[in-house]
Parts: sequence; structure tokens; C-alpha cells
Amino acid sequence: MNDLALDIRHLSKRFPPNVTALTDASLTVRRGEVHCLLGANGAGKSTLLKIVAGAHRPDDGEMLIGGRNVELKNPQQAREAGIAMIYQELDLVGQMTVEENLMLGYTPHRFGIVSRARRSARVKEALARVGAGFSASARVETLSIANQQLAAIARALTCDARVVVMDEPSAALNETELKRVFQVIREITAAGVAVLYVSHRLNEIREIGDRVTVLRAGRTLETQALSEVDDRALIAAVVGEHRELLERAERKPPRDALALQVTRLQGAQGLDVRDLEVRQGEIVGLAGLNGAGRSSLLKGLFGASKVDAQVRLFGEPYSVRTARQAIRCGVGLVPESRKSQGLLLDAAIYRNATLVHTRRLTWFSHAQAKQRSEPVLKRLQTKFDNLEQPVRQLSGGNQQKVVMAKWVIDGTRLLLLDEPSRGLDVGAKADLYALARSLAEEGAAVLVASSELDELYVNCDRIWVMHEGRNVACFDPLHASRDQIEQTILMGTKA
Ligand SMILES: Nc1ncnc2c1ncn2[C@@H]1O[C@H](COP(=O)(O)OP(=O)(O)OP(=O)(O)O)[C@@H](O)[C@H]1O
Ligand SMILES: [Mg+2]
Repeated sequence: MNDLALDIRHLSKRFPPNVTALTDASLTVRRGEVHCLLGANGAGKSTLLKIVAGAHRPDDGEMLIGGRNVELKNPQQAREAGIAMIYQELDLVGQMTVEENLMLGYTPHRFGIVSRARRSARVKEALARVGAGFSASARVETLSIANQQLAAIARALTCDARVVVMDEPSAALNETELKRVFQVIREITAAGVAVLYVSHRLNEIREIGDRVTVLRAGRTLETQALSEVDDRALIAAVVGEHRELLERAERKPPRDALALQVTRLQGAQGLDVRDLEVRQGEIVGLAGLNGAGRSSLLKGLFGASKVDAQVRLFGEPYSVRTARQAIRCGVGLVPESRKSQGLLLDAAIYRNATLVHTRRLTWFSHAQAKQRSEPVLKRLQTKFDNLEQPVRQLSGGNQQKVVMAKWVIDGTRLLLLDEPSRGLDVGAKADLYALARSLAEEGAAVLVASSELDELYVNCDRIWVMHEGRNVACFDPLHASRDQIEQTILMGTKA
């Protein structure tokens, strides 16, 4: 028996008229291995995975599954060949229940006629395996993004795949959920299933991966065992140059004037923030466990959730009930879930990048919108063909940059960022924080929530730790150790 579950040879893919997503991609995935795919935003990872899943047809090259040459014409054929795909954009049907969605994973062809009760039992078993805390009869659109992701993974499990392909599953999951998914990955690989796994996070790849292939501008570089390659080499391979991305950047000290002054902000689920201030020119981080209240605080400040608060913004009393009011006051939020909250997927890039403007200033001409969005998109090194393209055609990370651009363009005075680096490659992450820094230096204030402490540590002037709805301790990263902060995140009190 062939020990190669998947053998990809010289695949190429163009999107007419002039995008070349893949030029020459080759890699092999062994049975029982977790093969990681790493690469900059727009490098072609999702395109490659979609070819494997039968969602795109390659222009050139060939593919073997279990040693047999296949030409997949559609996702159904890929499923029949034993490929299960977990997409970067979730592809469950919102109006259907979890169970109905999972049933879609069954191909009558492979399973013959299976009784409803048996299928139902399998669905439940798969949900239990991923640790789903929701019922099989819940409608998918009522679930959080994380739970939808878990349902998608459960669906992959129910169809007895030979190869499971995962496109940035971690982008929507918290630490506990991800641990659970890793556990499932270990179980299925021990049983011989092969996994092709995309992520931008090196620590994650190191934890779960056996081998890694870097994809740069549509071409695969040499595959390496993870035990034989260090982070620097991987980063250099991804961004194609040597960049100092892991060190603290030189910063001007913040000004004395206060930009944001939260005396008190209270809301649902025990949210109770007191005496949190951000000065002009300052970047303040929010660290904490999932559910610690960071997103709720940001949403409350943005008028996107109901709070009872006493807040001043640039010295003026600030109280908003809607996002529209917040925007008018110069407050911008880059939300955690960009798909459902941040973008109109079928509208042109420049319209998305200027949503704030075009909604507020009806006379704002399209030409001006383009003129204003272009430099910011360039600064974030957004990869696109032209500004008229629908956002849907951009790679996941580049969509995230469009969301960022929207708020930067509008001359935001208070920028609220919720997990902004999710889905961004290492270089893009650095660009994003460089942009936040330059906004701050122009006098804006930035409040950023992230579950990656390293990122806050390197980029923030101060870090507030939140625990069970409260802001419990504030740290200066120049003086506090990471351990100290981590301890506080877990315990809820300063050690
Ligand atoms: N349907 C499409 N039409 C036109 N261009 C597309 C389409 N899908 C992808 N592209 C382009 O192909 C290139 C590769 O995109 P892909 O989504 O594969 O990148 P990626 O490596 O997954 O990036 P990310 O890390 O941001 O998710 C990008 O330039 C993207 O804009
Ligand atoms: Mg992608």
C-alpha cells in the first residue's frame, strides 16, 4: 500500500483576466502525518486546498490520492475520493440545523442506505468528539463562529476521510477549543488519516505539525521536517526577506493628554471596567482569557452593545447607543469576526475600504473613494488586482486588511482592534502594528485586544489584564515579565 495519502505535482491556477494564484505547487502528504502549509497572505494556500477539495480545477499539474491519479471535477467527487475540507470561510448552511449540515457530508454512494437513527448517532458522536457544547438540532446561524467551525470539523469527521484539509481552523477558535481540535487531529492521524493544515502561527504549527512546506507567491519551496528548521528560517521563507519581526519597535512616548477615560463601564455578563485610560499617542493592550470581557468592552465603547458607562473622549463626555454615533465621534472598531461584521463580500474593494465614508457622505464620489483607499491598502501591502474587484476574490488575510483600511482612512481618533492579527501572516502583522503606531503618533489612541500575549508585549505601551469582566491589573511591558502577565491572566490577580 502506498504510504502517500496525497501527492500534488506542479499544480498551477490562474484567475482570469490576470491573477496567477499558483504557478508551481508540489507536495506530498504521508498517511498519518500532519503536513503544515505556511505562506504570506495571498501566497495561494487556500487556492491549493480548494483544488484538493475539488472546488477549483487546476490549469495544469496532477494529483494522486492514495497512489491513484484523480481529476476532481467538483467537491462531491473529492469527498468520494476521501477528501474532507474545512474551509477558511465557513461553508455550512446557516438556515439548516447542525445535524442537517453534517448529514450533507454523507455521500449516499459511499454509505449505501443508512438508517436515519444510525446517521443521527454518528453525528452526535462526532459532535462529542470535537467537544461541541451545542445541540445537533441548533440552527447553524444561531451559533458563534467558533461553534460553527467546530461543527465543520465534526462534519469532516463524519465522512470517514482519508485526507482532512484544514484552512486556518484556529482563526476562529479559542485556546481550549483549539486544544480539543488538536486532540482530534492526533486521534485521526494515529488511525492513519493524513492532515494538511494551514496556519500563520508558528507555535501552533510546531505543536501539531510533522513537516512543513512554505508556499511563496504561488510556488512551493522545499518541504522540511519541523524538527529540523527554526522559526527565523521559516519567517524568512514566508516573507522572502529577513525582517526583524519579533523585537520591540522604537517608540515615541505617548503625550500627556488623555484620549479615552473610562471611569466606569458596566454591561451584561458581569462586565465592570473601572478607571481605564488611554493617552493620545498610546497603544494599550487588553489581555485575558476568552470570555474575560475584552470584546464586550470594545463593543460597548463602539455602541455595538448596551452598556451603562461614564466615559470621556478627548475631554468630552462620550455616550453612544449606536455604532453610527460612535463613528461620528471618530471611533472605529475592527471587529473580531470580519466576515459577519466587517465586510460586504460582493462589493468592490474600494467601497469596502471606504464604507464609513460612503455611508455618511453621500456625495463622496467613487473616484475619491478610490483615491483615498489606495494608499492605505498599499501601506498594509494588501494584495489585489484592482480596486473594482469584489472583496470575495481576495485571500482571507487581505480581506482583513480591507477592514483595517476602512477605519484608518476615516481619520479615526480612537481605534479599537479586536484580535486584529487573526489570519494575518507575520509580515502583515508587523505592517498592521506599524500603521497603528503611526496613527498613534498623529495623536490617536489605540486599544487592542489580542489573545497572543507576545504580540501585545512587543507592540503596546501598557497592557491591561481583564479577568471575568473586570480590568484587574495594568503592566508596563518594559518592566513586567511575560510570566508575570500570564500568571495574572490565569489567576485574575497580580502575583
Ligand atoms: N475567485 C478568485 N478570483 C480572483 N482572484 C482570486 C480568487 N480566489 C483567489 N484569488 C487570488 O489568488 C491569490 C491567492 O489567494 P489565496 O486565497 O489562495 O491566498 P492564501 O495563501 O490563502 O492567503 P491568506 O493567508 O490571506 O488566506 C490572491 O491574489 C487572491 O486574490
Ligand atoms: Mg487563505
